[in-house]
Amino acid sequence: MLTPTLDARLEAVLELIRADVHADIGSDHARLPVRLIREGRVGRCIAVELNPGPLAQARRSVARARLDAQIEVREGDGFAPVAPGELDSASLCGMGAHTIRGILERAGERRPPALVLQPNDSALLIRLWAREAGYHVRAERLIAGYWPYPVLRLERAAGADPAYEDVPVDAALKYGPLLLRAGGEVVRRQIEADIVRLGSVAAPGRASWDELETARTALAVLDSRMK
Ligand SMILES: C[S@@+](CC[C@H](N)C(=O)[O-])C[C@H]1O[C@@H](n2cnc3c(N)ncnc32)[C@H](O)[C@@H]1O
Repeated sequence: MLTPTLDARLEAVLELIRADVHADIGSDHARLPVRLIREGRVGRCIAVELNPGPLAQARRSVARARLDAQIEVREGDGFAPVAPGELDSASLCGMGAHTIRGILERAGERRPPALVLQPNDSALLIRLWAREAGYHVRAERLIAGYWPYPVLRLERAAGADPAYEDVPVDAALKYGPLLLRAGGEVVRRQIEADIVRLGSVAAPGRASWDELETARTALAVLDSRMK
């Protein structure tokens, strides 16, 4: 039986998922659900697709893997094809942060208590949304690729998110509270590249001035943790 390979960003997503019932929203090739079942990380998976081409592709992958009993492919927009309370967790990967946030906002009571999200651009919008929606950041990765790909595991929880304790909030929202704590080459390179890019355009009164300040603060956090 064919076991699909995943690129590095989806491998990072895979490692952050463990659930009885999981949904992969915007599943396309459905490689992630197939691997989740094969590795026993989830008991049952629902692959949701909006568009006909990827929907057919997902159905073919599941049939080829002979996993029709464990993976159900459903057509629809975001969480619309799942029932409230049906899921323990969901993943949304390989889309822009605006698209992911829109799907999460429309989900209402269909949204599960755990989410693994991989936006293709800045995760700032996702982190801002999580604070408003009552989800805490439980794990973060930054995967080198065509871009640096953020991967976040969020869990529904009450009160202030402890991930933001003792880190400057603007820098943590932009670069990731747990990524700043953990440090590492990928996040350092991202911050240093922002400082170079913003340094050539920033001027007092412009948004880029504040962004540059945020990047410098983030770099200072990384440096202070190396001492
Ligand atoms: C770029 S692909 C990413 C596929 C896979 N998740 C990955 O990370 O490799 C994005 C997929 O999301 C689907 N999609 C976009 N908006 C969606 C929505 N509102 N509901 C369900 N699927 C959606 C698209 O049809 C497309 O197949």
